[in-house]
Amino acid sequence: MLKLLYQKEVEIKTLNTPIYNSVKKYWQSSPISFHMPGHKLGKGLMREFAENMALCDLTEIPGLDVLHYPDGIIKDAQELAAKAFSADKTFFLVNGSTSGIQTLILTLCKPGDKLIVSRDCHRSVIYGMFMAGVTPVYVKPRFNSKFGISSVILPQDIEHAIKENPDAVGVLITRPNYYGICSDLFNISQIVHSYGKVLAVDEAHGAHLGFNSRVPQSAMQLGADICVQSAHKTLPALTQGAYLHVKSHRIDIDRLLFYFRMLQTTSPSYIIMSSLDIARAVMEEKGEKLLDELLSHIRGFEELILGNTSLKLLSENHIHGGKVDRTRLVINVSSLGETGFHIGKILREEYRLLVEMADLYNLVCIATVSDGKEDFANLSKAVDEISSKFKKASDKADIYVEELEIPEQKIAFKDLIGAKGKWTGLKDSIGKVSLGMVVPYPPGIPVLCPGEVISRNIAQYLNRIIASGGMVNGLSSLKEIEVIEL
Ligand SMILES: Cc1ncc(COP(=O)(O)O)c(C=O)c1O
Repeated sequence: MLKLLYQKEVEIKTLNTPIYNSVKKYWQSSPISFHMPGHKLGKGLMREFAENMALCDLTEIPGLDVLHYPDGIIKDAQELAAKAFSADKTFFLVNGSTSGIQTLILTLCKPGDKLIVSRDCHRSVIYGMFMAGVTPVYVKPRFNSKFGISSVILPQDIEHAIKENPDAVGVLITRPNYYGICSDLFNISQIVHSYGKVLAVDEAHGAHLGFNSRVPQSAMQLGADICVQSAHKTLPALTQGAYLHVKSHRIDIDRLLFYFRMLQTTSPSYIIMSSLDIARAVMEEKGEKLLDELLSHIRGFEELILGNTSLKLLSENHIHGGKVDRTRLVINVSSLGETGFHIGKILREEYRLLVEMADLYNLVCIATVSDGKEDFANLSKAVDEISSKFKKASDKADIYVEELEIPEQKIAFKDLIGAKGKWTGLKDSIGKVSLGMVVPYPPGIPVLCPGEVISRNIAQYLNRIIASGGMVNGLSSLKEIEVIEL
């Protein structure tokens, strides 16, 4: 039995703990969570594990193995995970997919190497390339102008990039993207391998893929050589828990381990590793059934939205040449004449329902096997009521969003080390070179990367997001941008 030291002597509310106080306030408000982590405020966790978490917070004592050199229980758990996720080898990550992405980029690339990368990549990919001194070759995903989001990466665009850059070491693709859109990875892998290159996939949003035939197959099942998955986003696993999977003779495992050890803490959390282990076991044993149940709840929600409201739900009808992961609900609210930001605020303030992300046009909800019928009933009721309220207020036409160009990279990553910056207003920054990454967040897709030229279009786009109440990481509190002093 735990003897809790502070229980009697100090009332926790008398302590000055801003983070803990806010987190507590949040859970005490009984929120409905359609955001990550995928265990949804503990609902998806095994009761015994949830109740004894403090007791699981151990270190690498005898019998508990060593993450950097596993030959006991961690090795066993990783082997079980490799089997469940259709990989040859799996490595547990305790610092999110971020650390896995950086490990894989450093494994594949030497300084100066070219890597073909889909531009809808997460900031961890850009930082990984920066760390490795990579020269990126960006491939633009297709753009869905109805939803204002990036869509599939086409196999022919990957082939074109390889032909133009035969010296590139490989291709790194984000799939699913933030909106659950899954490019045709099978054909992409055939093409990449036919040129003798490596295919890496950022599958941070797809740890549940492949466990049910009604969701798309996973990167490992479709021929990728290496991929990362954030278990914490779509499985009942704890934040920071992620997997790095390899299925290939093209990956140098010794080199990978070198960087894996460099980027993972030497004090890995046994709470996170236990949750990775449990999430694997749950999905292996019950994943198919749990996903069936989840998809039937989602179907009820889809029917309501499409039957009763003017809202649009992203589906395979909206994309060409790929699949959609239906557990990612992308609800376009433009027909209400309101921004996603505003509808997200109403959901939060009036219904205690928090979505994963709101942008100018859409709401994005993450649904996982931890969500129950009740959660979908609440979501349906809230969306239905809001939709009737605004239907009366406005009846605006479909939006048409312009696509942003990939900016010119004027200064290479390797030449940026030590560069000095100057904060300047967006209007005055046009034509200058960005020192930092500028990322409307979420979804965490960079609009500008270090060394890229700021165009008028980009400055206007950023202004538009700010004016509608969106958040842009990389700008100062005065909404200035850091440019390079040449
Ligand atoms: C596409 C994508 N890749 C990678 C990451 C990083 O994952 P993690 O938070 O597990 O480090 C994220 C995080 O949101 C992401 O959206």
